[in-house]
Amino acid sequence: MAAHRHILNASQFDRPFLDRLCRLTNKIRQFDKSKEGLIYLQSLLAHKRAMLYFTQPSTRTYLSFQSACHILGIKNSEIRDPSTSSERKGESIEDSLQTFSSYVDLIIMRSPVGGLCDRIATMLDRSDRPIPLINAGSGPDEHPTQALLDIYTLERSFKNLGGIEGKTICMVGDLKRGRTVRSLAKLVTLYPRAKIIFASPKEFKIEADLRNTLKGSATEFLETEDFIDAISQSDAVYMTRIQDEYDVAGGDSSKVDSSKFCLLAEHLKIMKETAVIMHPLPRRNELDPAIDHDPRAKYWRQERNGMWTRVALMTTLLGVDEHILLPEL
Ligand code: CP
Repeated sequence: MAAHRHILNASQFDRPFLDRLCRLTNKIRQFDKSKEGLIYLQSLLAHKRAMLYFTQPSTRTYLSFQSACHILGIKNSEIRDPSTSSERKGESIEDSLQTFSSYVDLIIMRSPVGGLCDRIATMLDRSDRPIPLINAGSGPDEHPTQALLDIYTLERSFKNLGGIEGKTICMVGDLKRGRTVRSLAKLVTLYPRAKIIFASPKEFKIEADLRNTLKGSATEFLETEDFIDAISQSDAVYMTRIQDEYDVAGGDSSKVDSSKFCLLAEHLKIMKETAVIMHPLPRRNELDPAIDHDPRAKYWRQERNGMWTRVALMTTLLGVDEHILLPEL
């Protein structure tokens, strides 16, 4: 299993890492069942501090990382609006991040700029305080921690059905600019015989780099505009919203007819009984709230799983994961 200094993209993970992270997350959830377990978790990293630097909007990634810090006893600071920091006075983003590293032991950052996390990680590695950095979403390119929680949710959902291996996973929506899809698709390639169906309007098809990555893997995939056929043969349907915050650079989403790529209550009857419905959230009209109480809807559980997988990830990155895996409860 590869060791990681930073969490930057989904390509850095291998299958042993994912399997171990899922085991670790399960164990952490067992600790959560008792007051003694939670106090134990809180003692593990009570000597650490983390910076949450989120300059792009976020609800669940921000709150789940913050909650994960609380669960582990990590004290956290935050900047969510750079206009309140010295960036307003002209400080470069590199100098800002270098400054954070003077005060904390871990940086968790979300940015609208693709590739920025890689640049900052390289800078940190050359600095006097080479602390770890976690990419919590970087422009349209990567959202690796979302992919980890998605894998955990899929594995749990298919626990009695042989896991993710051999399953057909349909990803729907804005596949061109949706970073969760880009990161998750790369991880699905680590599961033998898994198949991916990408269902989207032609304007929102996956980008060439992801297509080439998939062609270089053993994973079968197909791209289609036939939403009904795609969802009827899938074991998991992963809905995503149109990422119109990137319209300035990527065209006008409102001119694209995405109406055929909405999952409605009437579609439930054509889906497999054992299928799962996921969404990284937030949603708009592509996922009908009338579906929320169908037993196949896993997105609220998926969002809570995000907190537990992020606890597991931070214990791994900060070297206390064995203190969770080893003790008998
Ligand atoms: N899934 C996700 O990244 O949600 P937020 O944008 O609310 O963090």
